[in-house]
Amino acid sequence: MTLAIIASEWASFLIRWVHVIAGIAWIGSSFYFVHLDLSLRKHDGLAQGVGGEAWQVHGGGFYNMVKYVVAPPHLPKELTWFKWEAYATWLSGFAMFVALYYTNAELYLIDRTVLDIAPSTAIGISLAGIVLGWVIYDLMCKSPLGRNDLLLGLVGFVLLVAASYGFTKVFSGRGAFVQIGAMIGTIMVASVAMTIIPNQRKIVIDLLAGRSPDPALGAAGKQRSVHNNYLTLPVVFLMISNHYPLAFASHWNWLIIALVVVIGVSVRHFYNSGHAHKPSPWWTWAVAAAAFLAIVFLSAPSAFTGRSAATGAGVQKVAFSEVQEIITSRCSMCHAAQPVWEGVGVPPKGVMLETPDQIRTHASAIYVQAAATRAMPPGGNLTEISDEDRRLIAAWYESGAPVP
Ligand code: HEC
Repeated sequence: MTLAIIASEWASFLIRWVHVIAGIAWIGSSFYFVHLDLSLRKHDGLAQGVGGEAWQVHGGGFYNMVKYVVAPPHLPKELTWFKWEAYATWLSGFAMFVALYYTNAELYLIDRTVLDIAPSTAIGISLAGIVLGWVIYDLMCKSPLGRNDLLLGLVGFVLLVAASYGFTKVFSGRGAFVQIGAMIGTIMVASVAMTIIPNQRKIVIDLLAGRSPDPALGAAGKQRSVHNNYLTLPVVFLMISNHYPLAFASHWNWLIIALVVVIGVSVRHFYNSGHAHKPSPWWTWAVAAAAFLAIVFLSAPSAFTGRSAATGAGVQKVAFSEVQEIITSRCSMCHAAQPVWEGVGVPPKGVMLETPDQIRTHASAIYVQAAATRAMPPGGNLTEISDEDRRLIAAWYESGAPVP
């Protein structure tokens, strides 16, 4: 193993570590503030300008939180801003996206059987999607549509599903999932950078100048932060989906994204209602469960034999030697202790498929990746495994994956 490979492996691990930590800090504080905001109670005796109060207990102390609806009469000497959690999450996420999906576009972003495009084209489309996603969202919020939260949400949902459909027809399934995740994530962070924080700054400047700030500034920030709250769960799903080809590589992958958004929004709605001390909308769990079952059904190879699945039905008994031959000629160039495929430095995900023992260990993963779905070989079948070979793998696995 060369020094360059060791360095790049650790760099990629480090950046993923940072990304997850920053994401936890950001989403954690965002959940916290939405909870706090919804649980504030109004009663007599609150100081001037205070819109509500909440009591909380945590870590051995009692906290008395009050919210000034627009701003306090005087600017406090010390003021904590919440923004670096969001920025660090985006920066580390984008770095990872570039390092994996742009640098190895042929492996991760492109699927030649979906659309045969050059890496530079794919990268251009991806960047354009990320920028356009934000521009369209921002314009929608600022347009008259932005004054009707429900309608705005519905239009946003339809556009998101359209984007999901479009990107699954341009990129590989996993590429499309991370692309949509990156687009939503960018919208969320750009809201912090371009709306929430600048509006807050204007409020501070007004206060310092002795003017009373425009309440619309705070309201716009609040609207974006509520959107962010509802978008969180789908983004996390999309970001971790790349380990689960039934989600991203099955025939109905774009519909799965739509259903995941439904689940995320329903679940957040349940909790947000609870934080606001409203009656719990238990029906949201029925919606989430139904959407989840629909996802499972849509991803099952037998439900719809679109282009994604191969089953062993109808294939006669398969000798292990045949399966091993297929794997050696279609998989082991990457999945080996010393991969020979350009751009693959170490066995991907630690999966080595060189010996019968290794094939036995990974039998179910091989079945999921190469028969139940077409996630492997990546890039839309870079090593050109045939459908017949996929069926042989399926038949071998479905007969108990015998290894002599
Ligand atoms: C061109 C290189 C290449 C070829 C050929 C290839 N793979 Fe992979 N494989 C990868 C990469 C890269 C990953 C890691 C994907 C990721 O980062 O999630 C991977 C991941 C996997 C995983 C682990 C998935 C996970 O998320 O844990 C399995 C199992 C797998 N491949 C099986 C196969 C099988 C079976 C074949 C042959 C039919 C095959 N691969 C062919 C590059 C390849």
